[in-house]
Amino acid sequence: MSESMAGLQRSMRVAEVSEENLGQELTLMGWCHLQRDLGKIVFLTLRDRSGELQLVIDEDSGMEVLAKAQKVRAEYVLACVGTFRKRQDPNPEMPTGDYELHVQDLRILSESKAPPFYVDEGGDQARESLRLEYRYLDLRRPSLQKNLLKRHEIAHFTRNWFSQEGFLEIETPTLIKSTPEGARDYLVPSRVFPGEFFALPQSPQLFKQLLMVAGYDRYMQLARCFRDEDLRADRQPEFTQIDLEMSFVSAEDVRGLVERYIHDLLADQAGVEVDLPLPRMTWDEAMERYGSDKPDIRFGMEIHDVSDLAKESNFRVFSSAVEAGGIVGAIAVPGGSSYKRRRLDELGKFAQDHGAKGLVWMSYEDPLRGSATKFLGPDFMAQLADRCGAGEGDLFLLIADEKYKALDVLGRLRLEIARELDLIDKRQWAPLWIIHFPMFEYSAEEDRLVAAHHPFTMPLEEDLNDPHKQPLDWRANAYDMVINGYELGSGSLRIFDPVLQARIFDLLGIPQEEAHRRFGFLLKAFEYGVPPHAGIALGLDRLTMLICGTDNIRDVIAFPKVQNSSDLMSGCPSHVDPAQLAELGLSILPQVATEKLEDSEQN
Ligand code: AMO
Repeated sequence: MSESMAGLQRSMRVAEVSEENLGQELTLMGWCHLQRDLGKIVFLTLRDRSGELQLVIDEDSGMEVLAKAQKVRAEYVLACVGTFRKRQDPNPEMPTGDYELHVQDLRILSESKAPPFYVDEGGDQARESLRLEYRYLDLRRPSLQKNLLKRHEIAHFTRNWFSQEGFLEIETPTLIKSTPEGARDYLVPSRVFPGEFFALPQSPQLFKQLLMVAGYDRYMQLARCFRDEDLRADRQPEFTQIDLEMSFVSAEDVRGLVERYIHDLLADQAGVEVDLPLPRMTWDEAMERYGSDKPDIRFGMEIHDVSDLAKESNFRVFSSAVEAGGIVGAIAVPGGSSYKRRRLDELGKFAQDHGAKGLVWMSYEDPLRGSATKFLGPDFMAQLADRCGAGEGDLFLLIADEKYKALDVLGRLRLEIARELDLIDKRQWAPLWIIHFPMFEYSAEEDRLVAAHHPFTMPLEEDLNDPHKQPLDWRANAYDMVINGYELGSGSLRIFDPVLQARIFDLLGIPQEEAHRRFGFLLKAFEYGVPPHAGIALGLDRLTMLICGTDNIRDVIAFPKVQNSSDLMSGCPSHVDPAQLAELGLSILPQVATEKLEDSEQN
């Protein structure tokens, strides 16, 4: 039964007590973390978001209070009035371990069922799905509380920082026109216009550009974004961007400002000092050296193009790949000669799983060991070692394939092996800018060019003005901020000339009518005086993840979704009343309903 807290006023949070409170009567409230009943004396640990404190209830507390304390169980909510005093047996493990509250009045404000898992860090071992189903219990854990506090501080710092730089936080709508940007839109049916839909924004991209047209010259927003896409450890279907747009600036102005922000944020929130300016690396260089557009540059093991050596070898797999326009790339694993055959086979499988045709390995030892020693002898090995700056005792992994396929797989192998060999100094922060992304990618599926960033991105002037350059070879004036192998943010200089914008739509194979149907409101606005503008969006969730030192985005989101984008706690998505559907003029196709039911039964 719940007792009332009437007449009581909480003095402070439980771990906010200090030496100054000694001898005072304090009123504390919180959750029972542990109860130890020794008969004539009961110890309770009281917990709230500040930490824990020991409570003591004995015969001096009164027999009624002692009897009540004996009934207390984990997660009961308690109010206690007592004298704050020194502990006779201090607990050095606990920040408040020198003190305790000797309780005189105890009220059980709310009882709790036995929780499905212990609310402590051991809870990590409980199945994650169980913890997400009972997320409100999981959120009582200190590590999650610490993360959410950090998230709050980062958001607070960010708003202040940009405000001081003259940015206005302006909210943009959540129900918008569907203008898919890369992922699928989440759609919201309209009741007033049956058969018509709003979409939830994948980002406020068009609205922030409209704000520039409207003259707000420095916009920022902690913006909620929604994307129906496959989830990964650093991706959620709804997430938050630190979204920025500026007028009358160059791309370099945006980078300069954002890196100052990152510098100040890391100094304030992570105690890390990064040197400015941050390195700028072209997309081409990032791909060629690291096989990734989000390189982790905290360790070496870079990729080397050995096509010229491979072409001369009498190993057909290599020479024919190069003749066909591909490359042979290599990485050298320091001390990798100790790799056992089984591990090498696993790496071969890893490479194939990521799309490579195969993996050739060569171990620099005497006699030479390798998967193609029949064709690649000591001469090749010596040249290879020289090219890679490696030597005896090292292992070489080589892939022959189409250029970006080979680079991608070598980049993945590089990361996989660095983790395995613990080559990454986790305390190091290595932010950098990746610049000059390709403007377009060719989509074989759709047989057309697609925008690598988004269709409003400006190509590099020099490429645009070079009559000999094909659009597929144009580079975009787009930039990503990358930290420790994560894409933290992405942005670009925008097109502000309607004629060029129409040309880009044309190159993207978007007919004028369709461009007008989808983006007409932006194109119309561009007829009324557009300032040159540029912007970027940083992922707040990813930034918080990095600062909190976790690699799971769910650890920094209060109520995250799971892999299939559902919410285990509230049980959504869920069916709605037929009446609700009817009001929206919708019905569910019978076969879809059955398939979904079968799916959910299987899961
Ligand atoms: P982009 O799509 O690259 O750019 O997104 C910018 C940043 O948002 C974060 N992010 C995500 N975080 C968690 N879960 C997701 N599903 C997710 N998707 C993206 C990443 C990413 O770098 N409008 C443009 C920005 C611009 O041009 O100004 C945009 O949204 O950290």
